[in-house]
Amino acid sequence: MEEYLVKDIKLWQKGEELIYWAERHMPVLMKIKERFSREKPFEGLKIGASLHVTKETAVLVRALVAGGAEVYLAPCNPLSTQDEVAAALANEGVHVYAWRGMSFEEYYSAIGKVMGIKPDITMDDGADLVTTIHKIYWNTGDKDAEMALKASGSIDIKSLVKKIKGGTEETTTGVNRLRTMEREGILLYPIIAVNESYTKYLFDNRYGTGQSTLDGIIRATNVLIAGKTVVVCGYGWCGRGIARRAKGLGAHVVVTEVDPIKALEAVFDGFTVMPLEKAAEIGDIFITATGNINVIRGEHIVKMKDGAILANAGHFNVEISLKDLKELSVKRRKIRDYVEEYELKNGKKIYLLCEGRLVNLVAAEGHPSEVMDMSFSNQALAVEYIVANEGKLEPKVYKIPDELDIRVAELKLESMGIRIDKLTEEQKKYLSSWKVGT
Ligand code: NAI
Repeated sequence: MEEYLVKDIKLWQKGEELIYWAERHMPVLMKIKERFSREKPFEGLKIGASLHVTKETAVLVRALVAGGAEVYLAPCNPLSTQDEVAAALANEGVHVYAWRGMSFEEYYSAIGKVMGIKPDITMDDGADLVTTIHKIYWNTGDKDAEMALKASGSIDIKSLVKKIKGGTEETTTGVNRLRTMEREGILLYPIIAVNESYTKYLFDNRYGTGQSTLDGIIRATNVLIAGKTVVVCGYGWCGRGIARRAKGLGAHVVVTEVDPIKALEAVFDGFTVMPLEKAAEIGDIFITATGNINVIRGEHIVKMKDGAILANAGHFNVEISLKDLKELSVKRRKIRDYVEEYELKNGKKIYLLCEGRLVNLVAAEGHPSEVMDMSFSNQALAVEYIVANEGKLEPKVYKIPDELDIRVAELKLESMGIRIDKLTEEQKKYLSSWKVGT
């Protein structure tokens, strides 16, 4: 197996600078790294990861390496790799198989290479690595999985699965896939759903995606957000953050939802809610954040205004129907980095950002380091938890224990110099009693 495959190893110095900047803003993970380097919880273990190869991921990888692990890293999106960071990691001995703009085949070969080293632990963002392993094991005949198997050197999948102690999953879409596998009784090893930690989704999905999605749209287009009508599809944790940031920049925000409770929450938060069919007619910028498929379809696209911009923040490039967009168009051309102009048969021009892939990671740098500090601290602690509980966990999807989640919050507050109150003994007693009333 190659030591690494990156775009240009000479970019390593620039990558180091980027990682240094991330480290400066990730104090909790740096503290965990310090402890890992003393305690070496991962001595002799191989960790196979499929994550966005960003400067924040590099900080996580360094923490795992400090803990004694050998790390093999594939991307979790063909367009999100920061080539400088990949070069810096390769330069310090991490086995990285990633570059920006990989083809489908290259992407699944990278996943295969990570499988081929027979990891003890898998780490995913979106579940492409773990599902590829399962597709091969269950012989689903999936073409991508077969490509990965070939690139792995045709490893014996049964012995690989036997060796894996557990895995972690970073995002909502990945957790959804894994929970479905658990329900169908086909999950082969325990998974820690990092996304379900409070210190992950409340901050990463809301504030991280909120800010970086707008950042991505602005970097790609440089349009003024103030005065625009921004349509946010999905009012989950990401959607809430995106809607709030768009409003803060002066947009009139319209939310579309399928869940009555979320829709009501959006109304009470001060947003206009309507079906996408109606919103399509008035929106200037459309942002999907649903984790669902074909949310923006042909029937919506034909109603859009000339010049409408389409962006996606959800994990996969399935939320905007690219098929419909292509079928409705007579002409298509790239007009700026990450901006493609589609000229429709009805004469209108629609602008698709980042080929429908997550705009914050493709056109910008992904989430700010400060939120990834908490997400990746959860990742690091999740790996430690799997190792410490080897043999005790079943092939199920687990949440990180609350005490670890709370510990991450405590460390984050501490790093920000913020202290909070403690319950008095009397208050503790009151809260656990039922006798005191009016
Ligand atoms: P969530 O489950 O909290 O919210 C999704 C919302 O979309 C739900 O309220 C659901 O009712 C709504 N929805 C589903 N289908 C819809 C439809 N057809 N039209 C309108 N609304 C619809 O999920 P969360 O955490 O907000 O994540 C959303 C997506 O973003 C996932 O794919 C997740 O993996 C991804 N994600 C992306 C990040 C990034 O960096 N870009 C970071 C974190 C998550």
